[in-house]
Amino acid sequence: MDYQDYLNRWFGEFEEYHHIGKGKGVRAKLVEIINPDQPKLGAIVESIHTASLLHDDVIDRAETRRGLPSINAKFGDFTAIMLGDIFYSRAFMELVAYPQEVAEKVANAVYLLSQGELEDVKLSKNLNLDRKAYFSMIYKKTASLIEATCWSSAHLRGWEGEPFGLYGKNIGLAFQLIDDLLDIVGDPKVVGKPVMEDFAEGKTTLPYILLFERLPQPQREYLKSLYRKKLTPEEQNWIKGEMVERGVIDEVKKIAQRLVEEGKRAIAPYNLPQLFHIADRIITREK
Ligand code: IPE
Ligand code: MG
Ligand code: MG
Ligand code: MG
Repeated sequence: MDYQDYLNRWFGEFEEYHHIGKGKGVRAKLVEIINPDQPKLGAIVESIHTASLLHDDVIDRAETRRGLPSINAKFGDFTAIMLGDIFYSRAFMELVAYPQEVAEKVANAVYLLSQGELEDVKLSKNLNLDRKAYFSMIYKKTASLIEATCWSSAHLRGWEGEPFGLYGKNIGLAFQLIDDLLDIVGDPKVVGKPVMEDFAEGKTTLPYILLFERLPQPQREYLKSLYRKKLTPEEQNWIKGEMVERGVIDEVKKIAQRLVEEGKRAIAPYNLPQLFHIADRIITREK
């Protein structure tokens, strides 16, 4: 049985489940590489991740996910929320059979993830120029679950969890940095969700923080005037152009690259080239 078989067994009876697009399955792949004996753990973390996306799309009023209409768009917010709860609770039901330190690690990641989503909502109310607040928020909402996934897979194999946790945390941060970059430079047909929406939704992601820092005063005011606004194609192009010219896109990629390299160094002694490959792919991915 691979992780997908578990998901089908757990959720196949729910009609709406069959309308959820297939994701990249990064978390399940990480489990499979670090500990091939634990496909069920892969299914647990993928369930948690899917639950968080079901709720995230309600929060963000997103219409598209994984190239398909989101569950909230297709069946309404109530269904998306309850289906998310079903995914979370099934994950926890399965988790109680695991060693306490694993159950705790993963449960704590869900706690952090929820806190991160709440911080994301709060930060979206005003232009946020505080990098520390941004990084703390993306650590919680995205990196913590990947950290817990890698830590738990290693621990269940009798390996030290910490280096794998560090690897997971770093590639998780890089993953969100690239997600935020793809909102600006991605091709919506490839990414599977619309682009240029974060800033309009109030999200001052790292590229916007850096751009603001690098703009002269009058253009800063102009950028501020575009905040939380539905952007015209001209305004979108102005933002993208300034980001390219002022080296913002390259800088974000460089920061993500540094995180990935640090993550790879942490697990280098374990000779798992596939973990290097996944880490590199996070930077070069287009979706
Ligand atoms: C990530 O935040 C969502 C979670 C980790 C729960 P985003 O809101 O940026 O994710 P997308 O862009 O909708 O996939
Ligand atoms: Mg979202
Ligand atoms: Mg969100
Ligand atoms: Mg995003």
